[in-house]
Amino acid sequence: MKPEELIALAVEAMGHAYVPYSGYKVGAALLCADGTVYQGCNIENASYTPTVCAERTAFFKAVYDGKRDFSAIAVVGGKDGVLTGTFPPCGVCRQVMREFCADDFKVYMGGPGGSFETRTLAELLPFSFSAAEHMK
Ligand code: THU
Repeated sequence: MKPEELIALAVEAMGHAYVPYSGYKVGAALLCADGTVYQGCNIENASYTPTVCAERTAFFKAVYDGKRDFSAIAVVGGKDGVLTGTFPPCGVCRQVMREFCADDFKVYMGGPGGSFETRTLAELLPFSFSAAEHMK
């Protein structure tokens, strides 16, 4: 699947965001190694800290369904769903990616006008803690 197609699915997912507090809508589309895609949105909470990001919603849906091998994720976001720049995954979401993904897992960050930036997980989370490396 092309990055542009995955980003389009992330844009669609952004429409599902529940964001009564920040107004920042975020969408993610997670591509599994078998070609299936899981979409996620951010879901906020009046108590703030229970808020879950779009990326983790997508990962947890996929893991619940038994998926363990992932190729890429597309992420988009912006105030009221308007893309004014890229929306890089937060540190917590990067750590969740680390749990399931290899160094070459790709993160496509969509921006305005079809623009996007690509980074690998290794680039976004260098010198990281992982079960595979540190809990042998
Ligand atoms: N958010 C995400 O969904 N993903 C990220 O990686 C960063 C932040 C959400 C959480 C919150 O609902 C809103 O963006 C503003 O922080």
